[in-house]
Amino acid sequence: MAVMPPPTSSTQKSVLRPFTVGWFTRGQDLKPAPRYKRRMNFAERRKRFLAALDGPVLLMAGGLLSRNYPANTFPYRADSTFLYFFERPEPGSAAFFDPAAGQVTLFLPERTVADALWHGSMEPFDAVKARQQVDAVLAVEQLEAHVATLSRGRKVRSLAVADWKATSRAKAITGEELDFDDATKVGQGALLDVVAKLRLHKAEDELAELRRLVPVTREAHVLAMTHSKPGVSEQFLAGLVEGAFARGGCTAAYGTILSVRGEVLHNHDHRNTLQQGDVVLLDAGAESLDTGYCNDVTRDWPVGGAFSPEGRDLYDLVLQSEVDAIAAVKPGVRYRDLHLRACRVLAEGLVRMGLLVGDPDGLVQSGAHAVFFPHGLGHQLGLDVHDLEAFGDRIHYPGGRTRSTQFGTQYLRMDLDLVPGMVFTIEPGLYFVPAILRNPEFRERFKTQVKWDRAEQFLAMNGGRGFGGIRIEDDVVCTATGVEVLTASIPKARAEIESLAGSA
Ligand code: GLY
Ligand code: MN
Ligand code: MN
Repeated sequence: MAVMPPPTSSTQKSVLRPFTVGWFTRGQDLKPAPRYKRRMNFAERRKRFLAALDGPVLLMAGGLLSRNYPANTFPYRADSTFLYFFERPEPGSAAFFDPAAGQVTLFLPERTVADALWHGSMEPFDAVKARQQVDAVLAVEQLEAHVATLSRGRKVRSLAVADWKATSRAKAITGEELDFDDATKVGQGALLDVVAKLRLHKAEDELAELRRLVPVTREAHVLAMTHSKPGVSEQFLAGLVEGAFARGGCTAAYGTILSVRGEVLHNHDHRNTLQQGDVVLLDAGAESLDTGYCNDVTRDWPVGGAFSPEGRDLYDLVLQSEVDAIAAVKPGVRYRDLHLRACRVLAEGLVRMGLLVGDPDGLVQSGAHAVFFPHGLGHQLGLDVHDLEAFGDRIHYPGGRTRSTQFGTQYLRMDLDLVPGMVFTIEPGLYFVPAILRNPEFRERFKTQVKWDRAEQFLAMNGGRGFGGIRIEDDVVCTATGVEVLTASIPKARAEIESLAGSA
């Protein structure tokens, strides 16, 4: 697809010219982000994993997957659990954890002349052994034979990974029924619990890495904001976002969601051109190429620099519910209660705006709020954007808790009691989704609670394009006494957003 040029050459120049918007200095932000320097506590993590295991475990990093022909591959991204235990794991590597011996063996591809010719020479095995601080390094080409020797007849467990070839190999070696796309077959339950216990509670080195990425994510958001003018294409803005990530030594942690059709929750399509009156929704986060940790942030702004009166009310309401939910974060709070609290704030505001009718508690109980807020408040975050989502509700709805079956709250991705070190998102939103607002079943169910005529007016706005949607998302960590907002430096006050929008 052709990428639209920016509307004027002065717009182009302004990307490189230092200028200040409030406290935010563009020139400073174009310096490279602080690089990943210090080694994280990988050896300590492996030690804790070994101590929690009651039998040997084989982990697969996953390898290169083809885009169209075998030699043309997607960028490599190791499995998140493997990334948790090893620094910059090589494609195709694997690791054998033996708790009885207290040893970790790393398996790497053999070094060949052809590989050195095409891809560059690799560290010899003994150098990797010293750097990774493992007990042995062996050739992954002989993985089956090595695991047979190392396991000494004991049952070996493994985990499915996104690379189906690596998963098939682990299946054949362990005899387990592994399937990455089925949370009940990602691995044996007790093993998932051990991994989740380690990964869900972020240590200081992990928090430092998440914080290090925030200036990169902020640069991406502010560049998209400042370049949002009528006539600019979403694709051009998406390019600015991805460029900011690349300059910061990062990649997009997930398909960037950038659209004036923000009511499509995971909208990866960038084919619209911005028009006066549109609201741009950007949900994008940087992922470190060094470690795999990531941010997940959503901001919204009006094309042309000023929200409509309705847009202003909606933005203020979403922000109010977000800030209120964040302020309520502390150890012991049940995440589902935070979700319901945000639903209540939104319901109250929607009553004020004439979109809902009734008592806010009753509206939330019946699920009427979900006509406008149809998703959950957030999810765990870390090495996966939805951290450990592949392990299923076993991890995120523990102790016999189950998902609601009610539309809206059924999409709540976690129902954990918060503990210090837990990192997660808070991301309420309000949307005008034609498929919901014109659905006869919803219209019947919430006949007296939703002002359908008023909702129709939002679908008719912007010359019939509709209002779209607003979501505000930050990454937070539960601390011993409350909360730290990791992404607090990314502008979200309405006045600041409005002054940044289109200001380049
Ligand atoms: N970026 C996807 C999400 O917010 O869950
Ligand atoms: Mn999110
Ligand atoms: Mn997001």
